[in-house]
Amino acid sequence: MINNENDFQLDDFQSEAIEAVQKNQSVLVSAPTGAGKTLIAEHLIKKCMLEQQGIIYTAPIKALSNQKFREFQALFPELVGIITGDVNIKPHSPLLIMTTEIFRNKILEIKSSLDNHHWIIFDEIHYLDSIERGTVWEESLILLPKHMRFLGLSATIPNVDQFAAWLREIHPHPIRVIKETNRPVPLHFLFQCRGNIYDELKEIKTAVYGQRKQRRFKGNRLYDTEPRGNRPFDLVRHLKDSDRLPCIYFSFGRKRCEKLAEEAAQLDYLTKKERLEIVGMYDDFCTRYGIDGEERTEALRVLVKKGVAYHHAGIHPMLKEILERLFTRKLIKVIFTTETFALGINMPARTVVVDEVKKKYGRFYRTLKVRDFYQMAGRSGRRGIDKEGFVYSRVDPKAVTYPELQSIFRGQPEVIRSRFNTSYATILNLYETFGEELLHIHALSFFYFQEKAASCTRQLEQMKARLHILKKLGYIHRYQLTEKGHFAKKVHGNELPLAELFGYGVLEDLTLNQVGTLALAAVYAPRPNIKKQKYPREIKTLESITTEVVRGIHRFEKKMKLNYLSKPFFYDLSVSVLDWMKNKSFQSLIEQLQVDEGEVIRYYRMSIQVLREILETPVSTALKQKIQKAIELINRGVIDAEDQLKKTAEMD
Ligand SMILES: Nc1ncnc2c1ncn2[C@@H]1O[C@H](COP(=O)(O)OP(=O)(O)OP(=O)(O)O)[C@@H](O)[C@H]1O
Ligand SMILES: [Mg+2]
Repeated sequence: MINNENDFQLDDFQSEAIEAVQKNQSVLVSAPTGAGKTLIAEHLIKKCMLEQQGIIYTAPIKALSNQKFREFQALFPELVGIITGDVNIKPHSPLLIMTTEIFRNKILEIKSSLDNHHWIIFDEIHYLDSIERGTVWEESLILLPKHMRFLGLSATIPNVDQFAAWLREIHPHPIRVIKETNRPVPLHFLFQCRGNIYDELKEIKTAVYGQRKQRRFKGNRLYDTEPRGNRPFDLVRHLKDSDRLPCIYFSFGRKRCEKLAEEAAQLDYLTKKERLEIVGMYDDFCTRYGIDGEERTEALRVLVKKGVAYHHAGIHPMLKEILERLFTRKLIKVIFTTETFALGINMPARTVVVDEVKKKYGRFYRTLKVRDFYQMAGRSGRRGIDKEGFVYSRVDPKAVTYPELQSIFRGQPEVIRSRFNTSYATILNLYETFGEELLHIHALSFFYFQEKAASCTRQLEQMKARLHILKKLGYIHRYQLTEKGHFAKKVHGNELPLAELFGYGVLEDLTLNQVGTLALAAVYAPRPNIKKQKYPREIKTLESITTEVVRGIHRFEKKMKLNYLSKPFFYDLSVSVLDWMKNKSFQSLIEQLQVDEGEVIRYYRMSIQVLREILETPVSTALKQKIQKAIELINRGVIDAEDQLKKTAEMD
């Protein structure tokens, strides 16, 4: 934590960055995972608190924001607040944690609310490259208020100089770039292939790839057809025997994590003393936080007793927090987890295993991006504890070619690219300030800076097309936003579908049940293999109206050749939310749904966010009251994120 700067010597890149922020320069830091970027942020926060200046910290995922909130609260109990879609605690604090989305919305909607905040930290700023969300970082940087300076922290970005050159072009103040390429604890790469452990990539080449001409594998590999003799279990046993635990085992499927954990638990990884301790803590936490007796809690208890666990987005968020605590206390020796565990959270291990070097990106199954691989690999090797970190990659020579392997292990991370793609809400908000000039903002984008020529016009065309649709559908009239326009600019992500329903007067006529269901249908995206439920007439009617409305919007969007269409409504979880609003137990919902509990919680929380956004729009007081009531009915028990955050703060 912050006082650590007295305990250990600062690295050069850390002192350089600290010096620059002292001089009120904006700073971009590109350094490997686990290098110690947080310390720079903490230093800056401390400086701001001493000088009574406001500062904002943003992170790309809620788990990270929550963790920071707890950390900062321990340091500056009176001064910290947090605003994410789910949580709103002390939102006028000088030290404010928020998601990047909230920050971007603040700049667009209520800029003056940032007057007292002079700094913003963007943690994991390489998210600018994210296809779905990257534009939010880009818009935040373009529209950054003049009085603000930024500290951008990032995993290695090879084109960080280009990134900075763009920022210098659009902001007049000094911007420093700080690059660190070394990892404080070096990584040692090993491979498990055809049942053997190889110490170097080259060894696989001669031993495996050299044998005969490779046939390329097409399509998705089924886990069940795992080549005999390259069993994960053998690898875990090897780690245990060679004293290379604790280990984080990354795998890309939830079911796969569960299956591997069960296999691994055939061995016992704990001493008697450790077992007593871990079981005591586990039971105590689970009872205290009301998740004892649940199916998943019981299943994991069997694993935890052996020092094993799995961790993924389908698990109850409270249970995830408990497992994370047990891992940090070195009681869980092997954790099987999906990729989100790799991001920013300070939970290092001696060893990392990467289950396979391919994964699905969108619809395509391809070799891991170098940045994604290092994000996981970098979790191994604990500073001050391990001389080196071990990274084992499991290689299936039928699924991956040797050059593909080389590209991961010898290659440098991918350059970051702009994903600039303004939404309807952003366009409406910009229109209010800049009017028709808003299209000029495109020339300020990183996209424009990077691409200059041909593809740029395509990007600009998208913006123009959205603006055109907004005008055609009556969101902008005579250079002013209409009532529908004012509605749409507040509902990020579901602008047109909800605003059209508002425009037709459908929203005003909704029953309380329909309000709750509609919000959930707005955020839900169905997964394959989920049993369809029959829903009541009240919801069927709603479904047919909204389907018709969305069809109309899509027709327009397709004609204008938009690169993505407005999200439709999906009513698959309707019965569950009706039951939940009737005060049924969470356990009974899960049983009838066959959806992972963590997923249900996430969607419910997102639906509350939608309802809260509608409260900010020009709907009638009567509807607002109905919405308030729906929020109250949905946001109870396990769904209440604020309650959860407060509880987990007591855990530390
Ligand atoms: N100068 C230092 N000397 C020794 N240990 C340090 C130093 N700076 C940071 N650390 C420790 O290094 C660990 C990793 O730091 P940190 O979480 O800041 O990494 P990061 O660069 O933010 O990585 P990520 O990419 O995961 O976000 C922490 O436990 C921290 O206390
Ligand atoms: Mg970090």
